[in-house]
Amino acid sequence: MQEGDRATRVLVTGAKGQLGSRLVEFGGRRRTLHVVGLDQSALDITDPSSIHDALAEHTPDVVVNAAAYTEVDLAEREPERAFDINGQGVKYLAEACSQHGVALIHVSTDYVFGKVDRVPLGPLEPTGPLGVYGASKLEGEEAFLASGVNGAVVRVAWLYDARGSNFLTTMLRLAEQHGRLKVVKDQHGVPTSAPALAEALLDMAERGQAMPQGIRHFAHAGHTTWHGFASAIVGHAGLDVPVEAVASDAFPTAATRPAWSVLDGAPLHQEMGWTFESWQNALGACWELREEG
Ligand SMILES: NC(=O)c1ccc[n+]([C@@H]2O[C@H](COP(=O)([O-])OP(=O)(O)OC[C@H]3O[C@@H](n4cnc5c(N)ncnc54)[C@H](OP(=O)(O)O)[C@@H]3O)[C@@H](O)[C@H]2O)c1
Repeated sequence: MQEGDRATRVLVTGAKGQLGSRLVEFGGRRRTLHVVGLDQSALDITDPSSIHDALAEHTPDVVVNAAAYTEVDLAEREPERAFDINGQGVKYLAEACSQHGVALIHVSTDYVFGKVDRVPLGPLEPTGPLGVYGASKLEGEEAFLASGVNGAVVRVAWLYDARGSNFLTTMLRLAEQHGRLKVVKDQHGVPTSAPALAEALLDMAERGQAMPQGIRHFAHAGHTTWHGFASAIVGHAGLDVPVEAVASDAFPTAATRPAWSVLDGAPLHQEMGWTFESWQNALGACWELREEG
């Protein structure tokens, strides 16, 4: 940043969530950015007046939307809530950002896909959600695009962190409780570090209105199964715990999971000039954050 340049003002919604909290934490360390995080009590994306008030008060250059309804199975029983937040809420946010001339980075998901060819998925691959959560997130993407707002929809899959409640922390807890793990072997994806994603989205935010436009995929290099990911976690933890590979039907869920969630992260890495790290390296870097809590 040159002397005299002002920091890019970034507003993070859903600031207490897994991703939102990392955006605020890491954004606070960048001199190039002035990051404010608002949780649901301060900015409810389903309330247009709450959005307009926040934009007027904080005058951001960029909004990063980390707010979402993320209860994949519960969504099957309360679709109205899922669509309210992931569809209508994103519509309000995108339209307000468009009106205020603010760029928007919105986070979406692999669940917008259904039956697909087993190749790393690009943003133009046909969508076809298998459940309510995916359909609600797709509605949000469509509202974003229809609003004409400047910015990007960034789809991600299999987000985890070294803290909080997610696949990594759940595997560690279950391994300690039971001394063995049974993990699904027939769903494929790219484990994606929430800290790495947060840094990437902040890099995009630094570009302001010149950031990539439209739908993008963020993922590390390579892919695995949940069983492969669990085995890697157990290996990092140095636990001597057997990890048994089982079929998805061993764990029935209300919402159908996509069997292939392998997003192709290479193009966005190239566009942004990032090193395309393997998911194993990203796990190693995230693991180091465990020490920090
Ligand atoms: N986790 C994954 O594996 C995964 C995978 C693919 C994509 N994603 C996407 O990644 C993004 C971030 O996910 P995450 O894991 O960080 O989710 P998260 O931990 O559930 O965080 C979502 C946050 O949004 C807040 N929120 C809910 N309704 C809101 C509203 N009406 N207004 C403002 N805030 C609201 C929640 O607050 P409360 O807790 O108070 O409800 C929560 O703090 C989401 O868009 C999600 O769809 C996640």
